[in-house]
Amino acid sequence: MPSALIESQIEQLGPWFHNLHLPDGTQTAPDHFLGDFPAYKWLEILPFLPEDLTGIRALDIGCNAGYYSFELARRGAEVTAIDTDERYLKQARWAAKIIGVNHCIEFRLLSVYELARESEMYDLVWFMGVLYHLRYPLLALDIVRQCCGRQMIFQTMTLPGDEVFPVEADYPLQQREAMNQPGWPKMAFIEHRFAGDPTNWWAANHAGVEALLRSAGFTGIRRIAHEIYSCEAGSPPAGLAARELDAVFHFY
Ligand SMILES: C[S@@+](CC[C@H](N)C(=O)[O-])C[C@H]1O[C@@H](n2cnc3c(N)ncnc32)[C@H](O)[C@@H]1O
Repeated sequence: MPSALIESQIEQLGPWFHNLHLPDGTQTAPDHFLGDFPAYKWLEILPFLPEDLTGIRALDIGCNAGYYSFELARRGAEVTAIDTDERYLKQARWAAKIIGVNHCIEFRLLSVYELARESEMYDLVWFMGVLYHLRYPLLALDIVRQCCGRQMIFQTMTLPGDEVFPVEADYPLQQREAMNQPGWPKMAFIEHRFAGDPTNWWAANHAGVEALLRSAGFTGIRRIAHEIYSCEAGSPPAGLAARELDAVFHFY
């Protein structure tokens, strides 16, 4: 396709959140407010992924214009890419054809919560930049854990501070001071807007991210870059948490 046509289609499909580098050299968002986004994030994550993804089944949740899906597909993964915004899926489908990876990516209009109805398991789950947009973050993590067979790459908007308070297994009812310690696992609730966006609901601190992931049944949690974590699917939550999740699954 001639570059002039590509440029006019980029214009028609915009605005873009992903700056995709297309084979003819054109970019979809060269003036992105975050720089060459998300290419620089991808480079930070790359050392923590298997080099060859041939035969790997990957799930990209909140795929947006598909940057990560394309990179995973280029390395041999078979990708399912989901998003709740048809405008972004349209961008992703268009770009996948231009880049030549459309045969190994299935794009679906699907919410993370709707994965509760699916039985597919994925070796690699990509869950970046979505959690803080959700009103029910722990529910989403519980659901994602159910379809994650091996590794998850996770990113969420965080609060400043790296402290991790050594939380004990139990506390008496009157003893709540520990919860005010800087490293107690926390999420700040955003009732109105953050950065002008009314869908930014939560910002967890670093300890909070780790605790949420653990509580949903992820293990081997490593912070691999700012706000980015790699972890593995462990055992699902047991006891009351499992019963609660079961009730939600049946509701769906
Ligand atoms: C901040 S963007 C992150 C895009 C991409 N994952 C990244 O890290 O660059 C959030 C994306 O999540 C999508 N999204 C929001 N709520 C969602 C939901 N409930 N299920 C799936 N995707 C969702 C949005 O449409 C948007 O494309």
